[in-house]
Amino acid sequence: MAKITVIGAGNVGATCANILAFNEVASKVVLLDIKEGVSEGKTLDMRQTATLLGFDTKISGVTNDYTKTAGSDVVVITSGIPRKPGMTREELIGVNAGIVKSVTENVLAHSPNAIIVCVSNPMDTMTYLIQKTTALSKHRVIGMGGALDSSRFKCYLSKALNANPNEIEGIVIGGHGDTTMIPLVRFATYKGIPVTELLDKATLDQVVADTMVGGATLTKMLGTSAWYAPGAAAAYVAEAIIKDQKKVVPCSVYLEGEYGENNICIGVPVVLGRTGWEKIVDYPLNDEEKALFKASADAVRKTNGALSL
Ligand code: NAI
Ligand code: 2OP
Repeated sequence: MAKITVIGAGNVGATCANILAFNEVASKVVLLDIKEGVSEGKTLDMRQTATLLGFDTKISGVTNDYTKTAGSDVVVITSGIPRKPGMTREELIGVNAGIVKSVTENVLAHSPNAIIVCVSNPMDTMTYLIQKTTALSKHRVIGMGGALDSSRFKCYLSKALNANPNEIEGIVIGGHGDTTMIPLVRFATYKGIPVTELLDKATLDQVVADTMVGGATLTKMLGTSAWYAPGAAAAYVAEAIIKDQKKVVPCSVYLEGEYGENNICIGVPVVLGRTGWEKIVDYPLNDEEKALFKASADAVRKTNGALSL
């Protein structure tokens, strides 16, 4: 009887909850928001798809009532606000940090054993905040960004190769930001063949560039940030945990020397299982990739500096 709570019933949270319910990832899914009635309304709408789609997940919505989230095994945090005109990045971090911190406290008061999946942006910094302000084992604090960025990477690779995206392997590490993420081209393959043997450098450079601005491209088109792939990526991470799938997924986790970094949460490949992230997979990066990772970590650390810890 697994239970997953999703905090924030906006675009990403509602999409994530819908996928979790439809795929029967857990027997119970709870959606919580501070906006009166929104979670209740969205989950009632989802429940009315059950007989059409053939699932029987018990899905419910609540307005800021954490007692209903009690005993959750995994909690996905998507609450926060987007940047508004005239607002500095630091101010946005301040507001979202306040939301993420209070949400996490409420979550843990009712679900002390939950594994936390942070989606709210700036994601690496919010994940670091959760790690630093709770007494949670580092294995139970997971930032979702790399699952989404890797999916976008494979999407652009599949277009360049004119191939089925499900037959492509590829991961993106580093920070979840336009300039900080690192699509690892050298390790990407199509049916076991390195993509570097199938595509020329100019095409691969374009795939990397498109992946890195994948979120910004959609924000420009939609007027707000994307939700289908982000919601699916958050559900994918929650499912890998709850079903103990041992999948290798790049996630933002607290590093203590791995990949040459300390005291930071940033995207690296981890094995996901029932206890959270179980171990970090050590990819043999070359000097150029190591330099990119260091620059990415420096940028994430600079953003972390805006937190008042
Ligand atoms: P949204 O604005 O549609 O939804 C956010 C929801 O959070 C709203 O319904 C709001 O009422 C709720 N909320 C605000 N404060 C709350 C609180 N204290 N308790 C409970 N709920 C609260 O935003 P959207 O598009 O769903 O994005 C959510 C977050 O996810 C944003 O920070 C966004 O930047 C981030 N994001 C991260 C991605 C990633 O890969 N890590 C990908 C896409 C979005
Ligand atoms: C995305 O990558 C903006 O983090 C958001 O779509």
